[in-house]
Amino acid sequence: MPGRLEGKVALISGAGSCGPGWGNGRATATLFAREGAKVFAVDLNQESVEETAKTIQDEGNECITYCCDVTNAASVNEMISSCVDRFGQIDVLQNNVGGSAAGGAMDMEEEVWDKQMDHNLKHVFLVTKAVLPIMVKNKTGSIINMSSTSGLTYGGAFQIAYCTTKAAIRRFSEAVAIEFAGRGVRCNTIIPGQLHTPMVETRLASQRTGGDIKKLIATRNARIPLGQMGDGFDVAYAAVYLGSDESKFVTGSEIKLDGAMTLKCTNLPDDYPTS
Ligand SMILES: NC(=O)c1ccc[n+]([C@@H]2O[C@H](COP(=O)([O-])OP(=O)(O)OC[C@H]3O[C@@H](n4cnc5c(N)ncnc54)[C@H](O)[C@@H]3O)[C@@H](O)[C@H]2O)c1
Repeated sequence: MPGRLEGKVALISGAGSCGPGWGNGRATATLFAREGAKVFAVDLNQESVEETAKTIQDEGNECITYCCDVTNAASVNEMISSCVDRFGQIDVLQNNVGGSAAGGAMDMEEEVWDKQMDHNLKHVFLVTKAVLPIMVKNKTGSIINMSSTSGLTYGGAFQIAYCTTKAAIRRFSEAVAIEFAGRGVRCNTIIPGQLHTPMVETRLASQRTGGDIKKLIATRNARIPLGQMGDGFDVAYAAVYLGSDESKFVTGSEIKLDGAMTLKCTNLPDDYPTS
């Protein structure tokens, strides 16, 4: 049986991972390849993206890597040209790069704010802008952007720039969706809640629980009515659907993956019994 993404070329930014294991981009790249896509895996960290490619190639699937800072317009344009030179088309784009920096409205340094805007938002614009002419010319394309439940409800963690950018991505996707709906290009957003990806160990534990990883995992699991955090493959399965023709009528939409955490946060008291 053909894969769900057979014949498609997929470009994924942030296809490495900030630590050992499955970040969202690595899981998505791997699942896309299993479903028949030719994967163009982009990351700033060459070693990490090579690891993703090795996993894909060891499974007998197709992936080539490209090292690029997606916050730089010139580098992005070269990267897109390289993908088209290699594969002749781009059918699916997943803008996956992103991550939070701690800090509230009164204490965040201006340069941290600026970096967060680039790291979470500017590249979404730059890469989308560079890919759109190709998708418009081919009259087909699916763009998938990564928000977060931090862009949906204010979860209480002090990360003012992250929640601002992740909310902005949702509106950006809707704007692209309506602007390009008549030209064959779809654009949707995935909204993950708390996931157990490598950033829990590599970044969050030091920010949130003084390096106590077990405590952080227990705290995050306890917030989820379904009982535990999701993972990179929860994102990847949603991305396969949005990238494939199965979602041909879906644009300007959002898929929230949060084990009902935001329902609990927004509508119910903290001690509401969910089990
Ligand atoms: N992990 C979670 O719990 C979670 C929850 C909600 C949303 N998200 C979102 O999912 C996305 C991926 O998160 P993750 O934790 O899996 O990521 P990660 O930090 O594991 O991986 C991100 C990759 O992006 C690369 N990268 C960073 N800056 C780059 C740049 N300028 N150019 C190119 N590559 C760059 C890094 O090298 C890394 O390999 C992010 O947008 C994040 O905000 C994650």
